[in-house]
Amino acid sequence: MGINLEEQFQQKIDQEIKIEPKDWMPQKYRHTLIRQISQHAHSEVVGMLPEGNWISRAPSLKRKAILLAKIQDEAGHGLYLYSAAETLGISRDEMYEQLHSGKAKYSSIFNYPTLTWADMGAIGWLVDGAAILNQVPLCRTSYGPYARAMIRVCKEESFHQRQGFESLLVLSKGTEDQKRMCQEAINRWWWPCLMMFGPPDDQSPNTIQSMQWKIKRFSNDELRQKFVNMIAEQIKILGMTLPDPDLEWNEETMQYDFGKINWEELKQVIQGNGPCNKERMDARRKAWNDGEWVRDAASAYAAKHSKQL
Ligand code: 3HC
Repeated sequence: MGINLEEQFQQKIDQEIKIEPKDWMPQKYRHTLIRQISQHAHSEVVGMLPEGNWISRAPSLKRKAILLAKIQDEAGHGLYLYSAAETLGISRDEMYEQLHSGKAKYSSIFNYPTLTWADMGAIGWLVDGAAILNQVPLCRTSYGPYARAMIRVCKEESFHQRQGFESLLVLSKGTEDQKRMCQEAINRWWWPCLMMFGPPDDQSPNTIQSMQWKIKRFSNDELRQKFVNMIAEQIKILGMTLPDPDLEWNEETMQYDFGKINWEELKQVIQGNGPCNKERMDARRKAWNDGEWVRDAASAYAAKHSKQL
């Protein structure tokens, strides 16, 4: 009795053969990729909003130009990822409808306010830093289009992290007010960044299957731990502290021990009760509605030109 399609599929995964759009794949594999890639794309697009708040408030033309470039990068990441998701059979309009109706998720981290200029540095260093740790393994994810999209994204993301850190380094060497602003931003962004990696492994309904299909190469807790270990060292260069009294190097495990994460907060933010969820969704829906004439004009132009070809 020959092996069935599911077994053939798993053998390809085990042999590190990339799954491509035209290959047979279990419906559940297709569905979980549409789920993850579309939500990843939504995160990139919604993630432009908190940073966009500071384009007109940047302290110099240089900082404004750097921030503008970063935000444009995030838009591009979103478009790559929407295109990768479309190869699985979902349309762009369907994905937008899922976001605007609240059916689809996007990263909790973008539901927090950006209160001072130092938040731009904290986002670049911590949020993009967390995103890189999560996205580098995704360059080796089993679905071809997703892995290829991630390779380009990661190059830009690591630059974002460095420019975020540089911006905080300047503040950390500045006036007492600038130092205070830097520390206060780190205090506000640290715990929500740890939540970006997802719930603890024992509360993650997707991790086991996603690891078996090599969609995920590391679990949520493994990546979170890597992030803590990395930032706990980097922050020493800033002369700042992390807002966690339980943070301590553990000689035995050769890892940093850290404090308890408020999982109720993550649950609330995912359910739409974070500080800025309504503001973010209102902004996305408004952009969609205000952009309708552009979409109509573009499709009318395309229709007219396709007749002439
Ligand atoms: N915010 C919102 N939802 C979250 C979340 C978070 N921080 N963490 C987990 N969730 C959701 C999951 O989507 C899942 O819900 P769903 O089944 O309805 O999709 C549920 O909570 C349970 O979580 P799991 O761990 O079981 O889900 P996953 O296996 O999908 O793991 C993930 C979650 C690690 C975020 C994974 O989906 C992933 O790696 N996604 C790709 C990367 C990504 O989306 N990163 C978001 C940030 S993008 C970014 O930062 C851009 C940068 O340029 C700034």
